[in-house]
Amino acid sequence: MNWEIFNKAADSLPEVFWESPVDCGLILGSGWGSVLTCDEVIASVKYDRIPGLGQTSVVGHAGELRLYLRHGLRIAAFMGRRHYYEGAGMEPVVMPVELLRRMSGRRLLVTNASGGINPKFKAGDLMVITDHLNTVGINPLIGPVNPNWGVRFPDLSHVYNPELSAILREAAAEIGVSLWDGVYAFTAGPVFETPAEVRAYAGMGADAVGMSTVPECTLAAAIGIPTAGLSCIANPAAGIQSEALNHQEVLDATQKATPRMATLVDAFLRRFA
Ligand code: HPA
Repeated sequence: MNWEIFNKAADSLPEVFWESPVDCGLILGSGWGSVLTCDEVIASVKYDRIPGLGQTSVVGHAGELRLYLRHGLRIAAFMGRRHYYEGAGMEPVVMPVELLRRMSGRRLLVTNASGGINPKFKAGDLMVITDHLNTVGINPLIGPVNPNWGVRFPDLSHVYNPELSAILREAAAEIGVSLWDGVYAFTAGPVFETPAEVRAYAGMGADAVGMSTVPECTLAAAIGIPTAGLSCIANPAAGIQSEALNHQEVLDATQKATPRMATLVDAFLRRFA
């Protein structure tokens, strides 16, 4: 991991980012870019102005870091994410977590869109990520030990903090949104899975599959930032339906679910006010 990249990124941000601890960080994946309700925007920086982060190349990802107030809380929202499959290494992928660590972030909510493996899941359903399968075999902690990032062999028994997950469920119940629990399988992408892979992941215990989230949440767990994960099931995974998959379908499904996603994120945040 190239530490200099993180230093340069942090140096590029306005002073106001470092003035007091951030109550919650948000990493907003495909289709989640427009879920924010802000009382006051403190600062807004485009990703391409942050060295080492760079513009996300994925349609549907806004590419903006916003510091704002909501319910009296200070929130840092990474609107859009970088993916490992973009080929720029792990630094841009986990940069939001490292910046949040430097902002003394108290907690983190990570969102994504995924393919549903569990046959009960329908497009547009929302799922609390209770655990994950890393099918990729790489993670951001490979390399020399960095004392800022915890110990050599971090425990991953609770990557997705049980208390925060419970708060997500309570918030959903309060606003009448239904939420599944499920295990998220991380693949490198950018290819969608083969039907045989989807069958294999189902056998391994996965409920949904996607190309993100696990690197960031692995690092947050190692650092000790309590983290919750929320996935919008965008489509039945390959082989579960007969039609070919495409990214537009993912964007359409998440767009339809946006009002529910926005109310849920807001009800979640309100619980920390
Ligand atoms: N597979 C992987 N990633 C995804 C999918 C999928 O079916 N849908 C949305 N992101």
